[in-house]
Amino acid sequence: MPLKQLAPSEMTADDIRDWCSVLNDMTAADMPSEPRWRTERLHDYLVGTLPDDQRCLFLYRDDDGDLVGHASLIMFGGEQAGTAVVELSTRPSARGKGVGKRLLLEVARCAAAHGCRALSVEVIATTPAVGFYDRLGFERAVVEQRHLLRWTEIDWEKIERAAGRLAAGYRLEYHAGGVPERLLDSYASVKANLRTTNDPVVVVPEWRGSAQADRLRDSLATLERRGMRSHIVVAIAEPYGNVVGLTELVVSAQRPTRADQYDTVVDPEHRSYGLGMSMKARILTELRKAEPQLVDVQTWTMETADDVRWINSELGFVHDVDWYDYETDVDELLKRIDG
Ligand SMILES: CC(C)(COP(=O)(O)OP(=O)(O)OC[C@H]1O[C@@H](n2cnc3c(N)ncnc32)[C@H](O)[C@@H]1OP(=O)(O)O)[C@@H](O)C(=O)NCCC(=O)NCCS
Repeated sequence: MPLKQLAPSEMTADDIRDWCSVLNDMTAADMPSEPRWRTERLHDYLVGTLPDDQRCLFLYRDDDGDLVGHASLIMFGGEQAGTAVVELSTRPSARGKGVGKRLLLEVARCAAAHGCRALSVEVIATTPAVGFYDRLGFERAVVEQRHLLRWTEIDWEKIERAAGRLAAGYRLEYHAGGVPERLLDSYASVKANLRTTNDPVVVVPEWRGSAQADRLRDSLATLERRGMRSHIVVAIAEPYGNVVGLTELVVSAQRPTRADQYDTVVDPEHRSYGLGMSMKARILTELRKAEPQLVDVQTWTMETADDVRWINSELGFVHDVDWYDYETDVDELLKRIDG
């Protein structure tokens, strides 16, 4: 059977090698300046999920046994139960032959069988995936702007100055690999607080539901299991020693030249003191020592988040491409594909 569904733990070394090669062919065709994938810890990356989440993988091989497409479906548990996210790629040489649609059909069937009603996907605005998901009736829910900071273009004097400029009554702490237990509760409450105020917080699958201390602990452990090293800078208010701001970033073993900075938030009561800027600058100075192989850092903002955009541009981040969050109802999708 050309199309096979399997649990991540069933992936063989050959499957992993082929999976990586589809990703890299797709990257070369659609996003040539993006870093390439490595097989290093790719198995861990695919296996690791939060305890309540479940992941299924789909491999589509042609008659010669060559992998022509693949998909990964994460079905969320906990508060996000009933929703799922898919990543799907067809090898460029096999496009336009129904491979993507066939994979999506299996993905939708699997999601429906597990009780998922909503399916989402992240799509890069400049790639053929936009036409594909439009064609299949997905709706564009959110637009995020991706900004890139190229390591060779960083003005380190400016960054060091920004990292050292801190309002009285605050200090910064840097932590690699996680958040110390003593900070976990206030760290989680900063996140929870900001999420309810519609802040420009970008939620990535491995961080969903991490705004509670126990979920946060699970998230950090999951990142580590997936081969993603986390780097965190927190702003702490004196004299109580509680977290009032945070910025989080990961560097993954599968693409180690790229750092991904996805959450930067400051508690509303502690805004306008420059904490966002100092934290983002400080994390760069730490990365310079901890991750000397980096080529760039990517970060995300909503179109409307002017304050975050200002900080990013001061630090040297440049907007390069938009990402769309597409969503659809699973039953409707099945009707559209399957008739
Ligand atoms: C999007 C993608 C999966 C499409 O795969 P594919 O195998 O070429 O798609 P299919 O042949 O199954 O096409 C299904 C339908 O979508 C349409 N379609 C596909 N690509 C399209 C495009 N760029 N513009 C308009 N329509 C498109 C097809 O015409 C077909 O329509 P039909 O049902 O009326 O015949 C493929 O281009 C890809 O892998 N892109 C990269 C995806 C990516 O960015 N992945 C990273 C993370 S998710």
